[in-house]
Amino acid sequence: MIKSNRRVKNNDPIGIFDSGFGGLSIMSAIHTILPYENIIYFGDTMHSPYGSKSRNAIREYIIPIINFFIKCNVKLIVIACNTASATVSLPAIQNKIRIPIIGVILPGVKLALTSSCHRKIGIVCTESTLISQVYPKTINHFNKKLKIYQQCCPLLVPLIEEGFSNNTNVISTIAINYLEKLLYYDIDTLILGCTHYLLIKNIFASYIRNKNIKIIDSAKATAYETYNILYNMKLTNNIYNKNHGNILFFVSDNPNKFQTIGQKFFFQTINNVQQKNL
Ligand code: DGL
Repeated sequence: MIKSNRRVKNNDPIGIFDSGFGGLSIMSAIHTILPYENIIYFGDTMHSPYGSKSRNAIREYIIPIINFFIKCNVKLIVIACNTASATVSLPAIQNKIRIPIIGVILPGVKLALTSSCHRKIGIVCTESTLISQVYPKTINHFNKKLKIYQQCCPLLVPLIEEGFSNNTNVISTIAINYLEKLLYYDIDTLILGCTHYLLIKNIFASYIRNKNIKIIDSAKATAYETYNILYNMKLTNNIYNKNHGNILFFVSDNPNKFQTIGQKFFFQTINNVQQKNL
């Protein structure tokens, strides 16, 4: 991994990446809380979906993205993808680079721990995240008594990537089918353990409307974590800049598709998506 000795500046960008569109939900929350920050978003659309890939393959995809961000002089990296966050050892990467790097799992787990009353937490996630057991391990690290039930939902990411998230007829039947397997265990908290699922949060929410189940969405929690780190390091950009930050988009494949589908998720126009082969 590349080391950089340059001095980090307040107007350096934040680097955010995901396998594709899902991380836009995290970026949107970060942009809301930290509107003056410059951001570089990377969607690894060439290798998406990550959720069905092996640990080794995902690691090979991630290292060049981190190196790309370091070359772009980012001041903080957000792994806006549960699968990628579950696959790498964040402390090991942190030891190798000088800027902070965070994932989405810990912020989401901390939020879930404050919400679970009956001590039964359900998680919907990708196959690779489930296999990694990162959620049970992280939750039980804080509280061994909590019961954890996981359900992987392999059909959801391809449907979302194909732009079906607004076609509730197609996607809700499948999403609810997965969700019902968790409802059987009488969960009181549901973690959306894949950033893509945040884009169909309303489907999960409307199905469990009367069931007293709290939905945990890691976007805001990750955004606050980002804010706290930058604030504590005196690295927020609002001190010097009162204009909204610039956002640059890079993808490893198919920039036109990313631009068309991405803006539905980001609720803003996405311009000039650049293709970058790493
Ligand atoms: N959005 C990602 C996650 O949070 C991965 C989706 C995928 O590429 O399978 O896990």
